Amino acid sequence: MKLNIKLPLLFLLMFVLIIVIGIPFIRFFVIGNLPVSQNKMKAKAAFESVKIANHIASLYPNMEKIDSYIKNTAKDEHISIQLYNHDLSKKMISYQNNNKAPMRINDIVPVQAKDNHVVFYLEIRRSMISSESLGLYILFPLLVLIGLAFMILTLYFHFNITKPIQVLNKRLKNVNIRGLTSFLSITRKDEIGELYNHFNEMEERLHLAQKEQIDMIAAIAHDLKTPLTSINGFVELLVMQKDLSENERQEYYELILKKSKHIGELINDFSAFTKNELELETMDMKAVEAARLFENIATEYEAELSGLGYELFWKHSFKPSQFMMMNEHMIGRVFGNLFSNAVRYGNQGNLTIYLSGFVQGSSVYFQVEDNGQGVPEKDMSSLFLKFFTVDKSRQTQNGGTGLGLASCKSIIERHGGEISAFHSPYGGLGIRFSVPLQHD
Ligand SMILES: Nc1ncnc2c1ncn2[C@@H]1O[C@H](COP(=O)(O)OP(=O)(O)OP(=O)(O)O)[C@@H](O)[C@H]1O
Ligand SMILES: [Mg+2]
Repeated sequence: MKLNIKLPLLFLLMFVLIIVIGIPFIRFFVIGNLPVSQNKMKAKAAFESVKIANHIASLYPNMEKIDSYIKNTAKDEHISIQLYNHDLSKKMISYQNNNKAPMRINDIVPVQAKDNHVVFYLEIRRSMISSESLGLYILFPLLVLIGLAFMILTLYFHFNITKPIQVLNKRLKNVNIRGLTSFLSITRKDEIGELYNHFNEMEERLHLAQKEQIDMIAAIAHDLKTPLTSINGFVELLVMQKDLSENERQEYYELILKKSKHIGELINDFSAFTKNELELETMDMKAVEAARLFENIATEYEAELSGLGYELFWKHSFKPSQFMMMNEHMIGRVFGNLFSNAVRYGNQGNLTIYLSGFVQGSSVYFQVEDNGQGVPEKDMSSLFLKFFTVDKSRQTQNGGTGLGLASCKSIIERHGGEISAFHSPYGGLGIRFSVPLQHD
């Protein structure tokens, strides 16, 4: 059964239950006690009546004063007063109260003169509600109030829970990751608001993943097409031109070999990238000491780079007790990518690389900088996109596919850190990444 039927039914059931259980309860405890309080009221009224009679007796025989007293008392007390003669045969004074409620309590009190003989009879009527109708006066508004409260609750739940869920349901059914048109709009800050925001984020991520996939296929196709077109051209020349010299033939074969090797390298890069992404899903983390990791990396690459004739300067300010949770192998790949980029695109003639490490706030930072030609400002924000390369002509020569930094970004983000590029004061590119510091 759907929520928009279930909720009103539930409230109706609760309403009926309250009536069935609540009414006998009210009748027993509230109305059951009414006769007691009513008797008290009657006794009080009788006492008041005697007081009025005594006052009239004190004014006797001044009929004018008696008349004005009765008139004022009837008006002030909202009661009806009639004054009869000593044998009740004649009504002498009468003041009616125009109160609409039925007159229920009648007191007939004798008015005695000083010598104790009865001079008048006083009849006083007061309005009072019977216990049954008083019960109704209490019960009826109570039932209306409870009914109203349940109606408000039903409407509240409908507009605040059922309706937003229906809207979300409809949207989920028609999720469109190809063309993200508009987000579900919501200003609420409660759980439903959070649900909408998370849904919007999920839809955006799906859309981005879909776009990334399309871009990746387009980039792979583009990268493979260039060497393949060259191979096709050389093969066509070899097939069509029968009068080619042996030297020319040899040159074309070598070019074909070079281009097909390049295709092989590209394919290796693609599969390494996908492998990396898959490994990230299942990698296990260990506590690693920042200083130890840094020094291992620094000494390893210092030797490797000096073999190539380049220099590595390194410094860190880590303390022995600073640990990070990481997969050392994956973080090793990040350093590998950054050093290979510096060598590939840096200042080949006189390359110097600077490696530094420090702790700031609750993160451990590593920086790799070079004194190379760097990256133009306009390209800085695109460096971490898949297949992004700064200069295609420079690229062909160096053979990069533009997946290295994208891989680094995936690895660092999987560790809960951040990676960014900056213009290094040494002249070339600087890459800084962070990994959260482990707290005891
Ligand atoms: N240290 C650097 N100095 C100058 N340019 C750089 C440097 N590092 C990267 N780049 C530029 O950024 C681009 C992207 O680098 P990235 O590592 O992502 O890909 P790649 O090196 O081209 O290919 P891959 O790493 O997949 O083999 C490079 O093509 C290069 O143009
Ligand atoms: Mg690279």
